[in-house]
Amino acid sequence: MWTKACIFDLDGVIVDTAKYHFQAWKRLTDEFGITFTEKDNERLKGVSRMASLDIILEIGGKKLDMSEKTGLADMKNKWYVDRINRMTPAEILPGTLEFINELRRNDVKIALGSASRNTPMILERVGIKNVFDAVADGNTVHKAKPDPEVFLKAAELLGIETARCVVFEDALAGVEAALNAGMICIGIGDKKILKDAHMVVRGLYEMDLNKLIILEKKLGYEHLI
Ligand code: BG6
Ligand code: MG
Repeated sequence: MWTKACIFDLDGVIVDTAKYHFQAWKRLTDEFGITFTEKDNERLKGVSRMASLDIILEIGGKKLDMSEKTGLADMKNKWYVDRINRMTPAEILPGTLEFINELRRNDVKIALGSASRNTPMILERVGIKNVFDAVADGNTVHKAKPDPEVFLKAAELLGIETARCVVFEDALAGVEAALNAGMICIGIGDKKILKDAHMVVRGLYEMDLNKLIILEKKLGYEHLI
């Protein structure tokens, strides 16, 4: 097959941590009298911690200096970490491990590409840190999605050419990052939101190797092998 590596986003693809991010941001916005809804939260998906805070302050029409912002981001992260510290393997989203195992059996490399600096803790808590051949996260890359840096880094760590990598992403910014990296992108979530992805499924439980091969054919890759 054409695909040599699959790169998975973490939050919203492998685990449903988007709800914990939302709860922690909501606690912060409630304290500051900023109205922050689940719809607003969509804009934070895939976006780094500081960029998320900037979006929230923009929504609330507030201007703060860097040290105040760092204090707020740290406070939100403390609440978030308190919650993810209690995550268990039961929180791995349905179909994830089955699909990853099927890929492995077919010699496809597996990597993680996430903006989160809490990636190591989450992988540890849900017991999958040994599942990945490479991990690129917010601790190793600094340009936020839609910049392709995190996915290019993952491909580089794997030693696989970018065109042969497939990215799984739930965020608009992440889909754009994958396309900017010149990779195939499979959206996880809503087709109406992730319309630029090459294909969209509701969750990894809907994925299997056969669907990937059909997509490769549709995109015309089988002629290149
Ligand atoms: C992304 C999430 O994976 O990580 C964003 O989708 C989050 O919502 C970003 O802001 C950074 O996460 P963290 O854990 O470093 O604050
Ligand atoms: Mg995500």
